[in-house]
Amino acid sequence: MKTTSPLTLGEFIIDKQADFQYTSGELSRLLSAIRLAAKVVNQEVNKAGLVDIIGAMGNQNVQGEEQQKLDVFANEVFIAALNNREVVCGIASEENEDFISVRPGENSQKSKYVVLIDPLDGSSNIDVNVNVGTIFSIYRRISPDGTPVQLEDFLQPGNKQVAAGYVVYGSSTMLVYTTGCGVNGFTLDPALGVFYLSHPDIKIPFKGKIYSINEGNYIKFPQGIKDYIKYCQEEKEDRPYTSRYIGSLVADFHRNMLKGGVYLYPSYSHAPKGKLRLLYECNPMAFLAEQAGGKASDGFTRIMDLNPTELHERTPFVCGSIEMVEKVEEFMENARRNQ
Ligand code: AHG
Ligand code: MN
Ligand code: MN
Repeated sequence: MKTTSPLTLGEFIIDKQADFQYTSGELSRLLSAIRLAAKVVNQEVNKAGLVDIIGAMGNQNVQGEEQQKLDVFANEVFIAALNNREVVCGIASEENEDFISVRPGENSQKSKYVVLIDPLDGSSNIDVNVNVGTIFSIYRRISPDGTPVQLEDFLQPGNKQVAAGYVVYGSSTMLVYTTGCGVNGFTLDPALGVFYLSHPDIKIPFKGKIYSINEGNYIKFPQGIKDYIKYCQEEKEDRPYTSRYIGSLVADFHRNMLKGGVYLYPSYSHAPKGKLRLLYECNPMAFLAEQAGGKASDGFTRIMDLNPTELHERTPFVCGSIEMVEKVEEFMENARRNQ
């Protein structure tokens, strides 16, 4: 049991504000709004099974995926927290076809940030009491301040991200984020409703043992991915690999970041760009991975250098320990050469 009192997320955000030149405190207010929304969603996730919050809404989102009640709830909570506080000028969400231009208010005209969000990640897991999460990505707008946000403000490459993070609602609830100066993790004390710094300066191990992929799709994977899986499975002294796949990107990523490993969601025959969304799933995770000393790629190219053309575009995704991601890239390249 720790005896010293760790920093709270609120204190940490204020302490770190000085790292940004010419800061107006706007990013701090934005992160605080996310922290608040995360606590509200956490409360509701924890009640799943007791109140009528689990199950499907009976309709599909813009991606043609079945919306869960908690998808809709989390979406509303995050949008309200960001909108009402006027800490952003625009919001794009997995659950909304178009981006939202934050209505003009006292401060919103001056707000220079846009947020892209996956309000509830892994929502198909909620009914069975398995971890879900929230993923967010923050950019500085490129259109002029004080004017309505434009699509171009959201379609920026990941290397322009100002901050990114996730919340994992799990056996304990954590908020993990980066502003480009390393990665820090905060654990929620549910009794006090306060996030405390529990995982300072997270570093992903250079090598790992875990590979995480939906092997049910094996037959449809590109040859390079099939070869990589076989490589991991071969019984050799230098292959300590084991497979772990929850089916919630946030939870799979979080585990691999702490333990070392690689997460893969490749393209497959019916989905040439895979399943995961570049702007609010892959880019924020890629930023976190790199800030923790890891790597993220689409199999050939750095995720954060991809130039998005659509709000909800997808990309194959390979992310985690450097050595493992590079091994996947090697197999992809070999398969391409032998085509
Ligand atoms: P979401 O719930 O936001 O739609 O995301 C689900 C994603 C991701 O969290 C997970 O890793 C992946 O879908 C799982 O997909 P499969 O079931 O195809 O493996
Ligand atoms: Mn998701
Ligand atoms: Mn989602």
